Amino acid sequence: MFLSRTARAALSCTAQQVRSLHQSAVCAGAGGIFVHRDTPDNNPDTPFEFTPENLKRVEAIINNYPVGHKAGATIPVLDVAQRQHGWLPISAMNKVAEVLEIPPMRVYEVATFYTMFMRKPVGKYHIQICTTTPCMLCDSDSILEAIQKKLGIKVGESTPDKLFTLSEVECLGACVNAPMVQINDNYYEDLLPADIEQIIDELKAGKVPPPGPRNGRFSCEPKGELTSLTEPPPGPGFGVRPDL
Ligand code: FES
Repeated sequence: MFLSRTARAALSCTAQQVRSLHQSAVCAGAGGIFVHRDTPDNNPDTPFEFTPENLKRVEAIINNYPVGHKAGATIPVLDVAQRQHGWLPISAMNKVAEVLEIPPMRVYEVATFYTMFMRKPVGKYHIQICTTTPCMLCDSDSILEAIQKKLGIKVGESTPDKLFTLSEVECLGACVNAPMVQINDNYYEDLLPADIEQIIDELKAGKVPPPGPRNGRFSCEPKGELTSLTEPPPGPGFGVRPDL
């Protein structure tokens, strides 16, 4: 597509303005650098084999897909590899490609796209804070600040004791309970700064704080009274035109 110099200048100016509005720090996972660089603990020779137990899991997952469509199992098999190793060295991705009988690049494409896949080591507790619009409007910034202050780390970093890693992520699908964080497999919702501080203290003490909302809600029901569907349902036939 041909763009005039003026149009290109306008686009460039708009892009700069957008970036200056919000700039996420580098995530420890897929949001970071996309290019792999060999390191002593992450290179094609880094030992990785599925455990016999996980190999059975992988086979069960692959059997869910039609013959010739093993590639469809890429995400769940990568997940098994990550749960086993804690993160995904390139050797684990290569092993996934091998068991799925697909080119390694197909696996790299998936692992670099989804923020759930970590291509760098992460701490025992991976805190993923959502700062997308609904959470931002509910003051996710104060939660992020509380975490950073409490742990002394910034987004993309891990604590020296390797207990916590902090990542900033896009919407985690719990907007109605904003602001929220995901820690490993658990969601902690309707947070205030004091809540996240308490959660971190409990994790440090080796406990698993109960997941879910922190403001007394059971789930994602309205905070106050019902504002819709307040009358009993009218029953079948309501609104049906008699002439039809
Ligand atoms: S915007 Fe935070 S969970 Fe959706």
